[in-house]
Amino acid sequence: MIAPKLRKATLADSAQLLAWHNDPHSLAMSKTKQPVNDWCHEQWLRTVLDDPGCHLFILEDDMRTEAWQKVKIRPVGTGRLQIIRAGTVELSYSVGSTYRGGGYGAKLVGLLCEQAVKLGYQEILAEVHTANTASLCVLLRHGFMLPDSQFLRAVKSLTEA
Ligand SMILES: CC(C)(COP(=O)(O)OP(=O)(O)OC[C@H]1O[C@@H](n2cnc3c(N)ncnc32)[C@H](O)[C@@H]1OP(=O)(O)O)[C@@H](O)C(=O)NCCC(=O)NCCS
Repeated sequence: MIAPKLRKATLADSAQLLAWHNDPHSLAMSKTKQPVNDWCHEQWLRTVLDDPGCHLFILEDDMRTEAWQKVKIRPVGTGRLQIIRAGTVELSYSVGSTYRGGGYGAKLVGLLCEQAVKLGYQEILAEVHTANTASLCVLLRHGFMLPDSQFLRAVKSLTEA
């Protein structure tokens, strides 16, 4: 059994990345909350792959879905490191819905942190929805601090009755 590994994403991963992006739980936990269409996704992916400040990965594992099947390498999740200022990258990640709760999220974030060190970054940050318990668990397990956790942003709409 080979341990889960990261590889660089390519254009051939486009359909899988789109499916992961448009997964309802991932959208609910995202800032935009909007699904994207094939065309916009393809443009986004081309831009990301051409951007030297962006590192997009696929997490793969070898597995068989049935005992009698051959072991096959399958994509289980994705992670991205995006430079936001000199020495600092922002992390984003997701695990395919069928693979969640099996430890892949923790593994993925650990491997992404290792990649960030290899690439020479000194700081890594992630933005996470306060309701995203699984993601918060993963980040805390890997030593991420929540420096603003004493202060929550309160907001009130002034246009709704
Ligand atoms: C966040 C995400 C990547 C976690 O992946 P995962 O493979 O399910 O995570 P793991 O199985 O490694 O579990 C990690 C921790 O979360 C906990 N956890 C997993 N699913 C959970 C859930 N639904 N509710 C509460 N805790 C949960 C696990 O018990 C584990 O806790 P531990 O570290 O104390 O043992 C996955 O849920 C996901 O893809 N979510 C949608 C996209 C997303 O939210 N991305 C992150 C944006 S910041």
